[in-house]
Amino acid sequence: MSYKVICSLNKIDEISQLIIDKIKTVKTIILRGELGSGKTTIVKSVLKRMGVNDSVTSPTFSIINEYDFAGNIIYHFDLYRIENIEDLDVIGFEDYIYSQSICFIEWPEIVLSKINHKYLDIQIRYLGEDKREIIINEID
Ligand SMILES: Nc1ncnc2c1ncn2[C@@H]1O[C@H](COP(=O)(O)OP(=O)(O)O)[C@@H](O)[C@H]1O
Ligand SMILES: [Mg+2]
Repeated sequence: MSYKVICSLNKIDEISQLIIDKIKTVKTIILRGELGSGKTTIVKSVLKRMGVNDSVTSPTFSIINEYDFAGNIIYHFDLYRIENIEDLDVIGFEDYIYSQSICFIEWPEIVLSKINHKYLDIQIRYLGEDKREIIINEID
């Protein structure tokens, strides 16, 4: 799968549906893009569309947020503040991504070498106040 679009907020729901279709087989979703590009916005939209009722906030300070979904837990990471890979061992990061749980990961750069299964790579580029380029690739 390879998908590329230039869009504003009003297209996010459509893109979220595409991601939801993929999540059936790909459980790790990484979101790359500068601060304010729209990573958390996509996670919020996907979870809302999946029917998660919890309010979704950025895990910038908590590192991990958990959401209930149909008796399972969905994990949402923001690794912006993680400086050393050892800090991830402390939270048991690998256990999360090797579980069959859905994991959304913002600022994934530090863990890319640890993911050795299929994942969805979402890249967002800020083009203007209401304009983003979103590129989605399935990586095997
Ligand atoms: N596709 C988009 N088009 C226009 N604005 C967007 C889009 N995605 C997000 N935004 C806006 O950008 C701002 C930052 O989004 P956020 O998801 O918090 O970014 P990040 O998590 O990458 O730091 C929010 O005000 C949001 O409404
Ligand atoms: Mg964010």
